[in-house]
Amino acid sequence: MAIKYVAEPFRIKSVEPIKILTREEREQKIEEAKYNLFGLRGEDVYIDLLTDSGTGAMSVEQWAGVMRGDEAYAGASSFFKLRNAGIDIFGYEYIQPVHQGRAAEKVLFPTFLSDGKYAISNMFFDTTRAHVELAGARAIDCVVEEAKDPSIRCPFKGNMDVEKMKRIINEYGPENIGLVVMTITNNSAGGQPVSMQNMREVFEVCKKYNIPLDIDAARYAENAYFIKQREEECKNMSIKEIIAKMFSYGDMFTMSAKKDTIVNMGGLIGVKDGNSPLILKIKANCISYEGFYTYGGLAGRDLEALAIGLYEGIDESYLAYRIGQSEYIAARLDEAGIQYQAPVGGHGVFVDAAALFPHIPYNEYPGQVLAIELYKEAGIRTCDIGSYMLGNDPDTQEQLKADFEFTRLAIPRRVYTQAHLDVVVDALIAIKDRAHEIKRGYKITWEPPILRHFQASLEPIVEVGAENTEKDIELVSI
Ligand code: F0G
Repeated sequence: MAIKYVAEPFRIKSVEPIKILTREEREQKIEEAKYNLFGLRGEDVYIDLLTDSGTGAMSVEQWAGVMRGDEAYAGASSFFKLRNAGIDIFGYEYIQPVHQGRAAEKVLFPTFLSDGKYAISNMFFDTTRAHVELAGARAIDCVVEEAKDPSIRCPFKGNMDVEKMKRIINEYGPENIGLVVMTITNNSAGGQPVSMQNMREVFEVCKKYNIPLDIDAARYAENAYFIKQREEECKNMSIKEIIAKMFSYGDMFTMSAKKDTIVNMGGLIGVKDGNSPLILKIKANCISYEGFYTYGGLAGRDLEALAIGLYEGIDESYLAYRIGQSEYIAARLDEAGIQYQAPVGGHGVFVDAAALFPHIPYNEYPGQVLAIELYKEAGIRTCDIGSYMLGNDPDTQEQLKADFEFTRLAIPRRVYTQAHLDVVVDALIAIKDRAHEIKRGYKITWEPPILRHFQASLEPIVEVGAENTEKDIELVSI
């Protein structure tokens, strides 16, 4: 194999036993869960790759911080530690804790978006899109074309298509674009990075048209690591310097701290200009929705762990190991001829389910088919990032066709070993070998109006005549 696994830059101090159910038990569990992976109980999962969000392992320092957390209602020392870390790393003057990423969106987005407005992003994550729509506005994705072909290897498939963005601004009118959201890394396109040059260009366009730019910064450290590896202008900079430069190309950020900051719960809002009138609005919304602005829905112990995690998440040896895990899986998939969004992204591997099941159409959800098969095969939980997740058009209620049909193998931080990753790859290979036997996908039997994939019920579509075995069919044709 061309790639060597990057050994863990830590040792294990505390363990959590996991067990694997039998195949019969797993088949029963997934049926009971109405073929929705979110309906499974954690204890029925062997390797949980549903998300890298809030599923990481905290360090000894973070756990020690939990004990030190200051639980004062207002002005806790843990808040000031967090604020200082945020100012130091991002170079933004105002730092606001919230309980998670979507809380940041809920607090911030209504101050820019309302009926008739539009928000443009390289790609909106599903909850981010939902908050744009909940504010009354419409979300427009503007990712570069090469992102849409999983087999094209480009260094920055997460980029915004700047020309397309300009066209949209002119078409809808700059006064109707309430916000531009730059998602780093671009989760929905496969954890793909955005280049420094692209961030700069998008910021310049926003300045020209006077449109505020929000960085959706859930995986900002992984993005910085890719920039260091792939972009000439940054190759001699430290990760911290790259981050400061990336954030100089934004006015504010919303962040789920459950990812690169390696805590189980937390989020942040940052505003570059400490005198911005926006800050008063953020504080007011935060007090109504999240809690007083020095704790924002978090306990003092959470603020403390978050302040420590901000630094651990940008450590270069940690990031080399972290990205190395995705690269290891990708190298094994290359050997096996299994396609994925290539080159592999930061927080996991997005397997191209449409390539694995070319005979299953988008409205039978190939990404969901593979996710269900992985659970049945080896107790691995993943999720669909495709048409099943995208849902229906909010105006016409018609099923939208996604640009990709991925099954996402999101890797929790500092949790699974090389042997676990091998179990995952071996399961994918076994499914590939029998992919032609899986003839049909799933239909939705019930769905809620918004963010349906978390709750929907599904049912396998039974092929007419599927009860005939291949032997029967042969006999019939004779
Ligand atoms: N933005 C991005 C790019 C995300 O990936 C997420 C969450 C959010 C915002 C919302 O943050 O969950 O803390 O409220 N992504 C998770 C995932 C859930 O599995 O990719 P949150």
